[in-house]
Amino acid sequence: MRSSFKTNNMASSPATDLSSTQAQVRSWRRAGERVGFVPTMGALHEGHLSLIRAARAHCDRVVVSVYVNEKQFGANEDLGTYPRQPETDRQLAEAEGADQVWLAKGEEVYPPGFSVAINMQGPGQGFEAVDRPDFFGGIATVVARLFGLIQPDLAAFGEKDFQQLAVIRQLVKDLALPIEILSCPLVRDHDGLALSSRNVYLQGEDRARALGLPTALVRACNTYAEGNRDVAMIVAAGTQVLAAHELDCAYFSLVDPETLRPLSGTVAPGTQARILAAVRCGSVRLIDNCALDDPPWR
Ligand code: PAJ
Repeated sequence: MRSSFKTNNMASSPATDLSSTQAQVRSWRRAGERVGFVPTMGALHEGHLSLIRAARAHCDRVVVSVYVNEKQFGANEDLGTYPRQPETDRQLAEAEGADQVWLAKGEEVYPPGFSVAINMQGPGQGFEAVDRPDFFGGIATVVARLFGLIQPDLAAFGEKDFQQLAVIRQLVKDLALPIEILSCPLVRDHDGLALSSRNVYLQGEDRARALGLPTALVRACNTYAEGNRDVAMIVAAGTQVLAAHELDCAYFSLVDPETLRPLSGTVAPGTQARILAAVRCGSVRLIDNCALDDPPWR
């Protein structure tokens, strides 16, 4: 089947446009193969590559898309400067075992006349949405469109974006989409900082200060591990670390991992809890999260 790849003029790699991608997926489906999908905005790093490997482990074929989705950027955000390296991304994804890389063009994703704008309630409210009310609507809209275009059996998403994962699960449930969502663990840099395409923005001392974010998660988890069950005290242990690193805290909250509803009072025995956190470090916004009983390091 692999010999049926259409080729670009210059390389033996598969063509990276939408219609070639759809033709590939159709041929795999006809052959009874299970198709996995990894949607990304590119500037691929080890976090993205771990999703490709996870999708591979569950599927016969893997499609990776690269598209910087303008609908999830606010007016004053970094749409214009978001790192773009499509050819490198294609090579990285293929080296990791992607069978098809779709370097999406704007008109393929949003053709003229495109008129749908999904409004996300539930897990799409609060946290990341507080300062960006249309953020998860923009994500849900593009992901629904990408799912419709690719029609995968499975799609892989990272726990790095824990709220996004909850939004995608809700989207798939509410629209009854026949797609399995595979959640993949957050991948960290050697020093503990969560990998992100935006880490390239961290200049000079900000890179070291940014470590205050995972350190705050560790401190909060340790406070819990030492037997403290008071939500406010666990949160305070974390936010003190943020303050010591001069990180501007947007939120640092204990939530139910399914509903993302904030916990209050005491953490009852057997309660599943997740810490969600976001800070501003210089001009860069960073997010991170972990399970209350599973710190980034011990
Ligand atoms: P992007 O930020 O490129 O991330 C693509 C996928 O990689 C997401 O599922 C994200 O959670 C995952 N990812 C990013 N960093 C990770 C890390 N350190 N560890 C594990 N997984 C990580 O998320 C988006 O793009 C977009 O919102 C998208 C879903 C593509 C819609 O435009």
